[in-house]
Amino acid sequence: MVRQWLRVWEARKWMKQNEGFLPTWHAYLGYRLNLFDELQQNGTVSAQVNDKELLENWVQTGLILGHLKKDGDRVYPSKQMKNYFSKKSDVAIGDLLVELMELHIPSLMDYTPVLTGDAPRRSFDGDVHGTAVATTSSFIEQISYRSVKKVVSEISCETILDIGCGNAGYIRRLAHEFPHKEFVGIDLNKAVVEDATRQSEGLTNVRIEQQDLRDWDNEGKLFSCVMMHNLLHYFSPVERMELMKNIERLLDENGGISLITPLYLSDHGQKFSAAFNNFLSVHDNLHRLPTAEDIEVLAAAIGRKVDSLKPIVKEGGWYSIVIK
Ligand SMILES: C[S@@+](CC[C@H](N)C(=O)[O-])C[C@H]1O[C@@H](n2cnc3c(N)ncnc32)[C@H](O)[C@@H]1O
Repeated sequence: MVRQWLRVWEARKWMKQNEGFLPTWHAYLGYRLNLFDELQQNGTVSAQVNDKELLENWVQTGLILGHLKKDGDRVYPSKQMKNYFSKKSDVAIGDLLVELMELHIPSLMDYTPVLTGDAPRRSFDGDVHGTAVATTSSFIEQISYRSVKKVVSEISCETILDIGCGNAGYIRRLAHEFPHKEFVGIDLNKAVVEDATRQSEGLTNVRIEQQDLRDWDNEGKLFSCVMMHNLLHYFSPVERMELMKNIERLLDENGGISLITPLYLSDHGQKFSAAFNNFLSVHDNLHRLPTAEDIEVLAAAIGRKVDSLKPIVKEGGWYSIVIK
């Protein structure tokens, strides 16, 4: 009898735990389909919606969660939704939820068919998700920029290469602060490079190229600093060795490497990095996160050492690492 009551108690705990997912789903949908924007403008949603009943459910849920507010027979988004889940807002974070809902959750759900052998591992499609991933990476940039700037100053870098530069946020900020230093960013994703180039217009000390590092001909040019931020998981552990050798070829003898990456099984953020690691591992073209020991081995492979390794986002296990 007691066992049966404990069973119900355990079930209740799991049901309650999953309630926390509802606001994420609701905010994601409102951002994805511009529903908050439309409510803000019209007080009602007249969007081309196929299923009015589902839309009504979404509105009701928004009122329950406090994401939406009623004013007579009109409905408006709360201040929080208007700020962070409107495509028109300059502080929107909706892309984070798009990445979570359309990339991470489906990937985790694919563990079943992949584990049972009913499906191959997934392939990460940079053409579909590259822009959202570059946008969400820029949240880490906001937090880690100061530490990257310190690294660039300490190594006295004059020429800086950013591999997998994404939307080039790091080099653009640095280029403003250090107008006499030269910055080159490469990224293999066409849409991301176009966006980075557009945003960097007018910065004469920045050059951005669509290149795959693996076959980039740098025409013998050497850099005093190479940045690789959130890039390692695009390379398998074996390919990372090759990557380091490639970088050594581009690096000045006295130069240094700035790495930003989540570390697996580190002192901080183990739950977050485990979630990220599970997502990465179910792909055939994304790879498990490195550990701190892996980084030491990579540095040693090119005759260098880890000079510093500091957490920058503790809850996410993100580290800023300098190799000299
Ligand atoms: C997660 S994003 C990080 C962007 C940026 N570094 C940041 O931290 O904000 C990683 C980027 O690396 C690029 N990338 C992956 N493999 C690459 C390669 N072999 N050569 C050049 N870029 C690559 C991807 O296209 C993607 O834009």
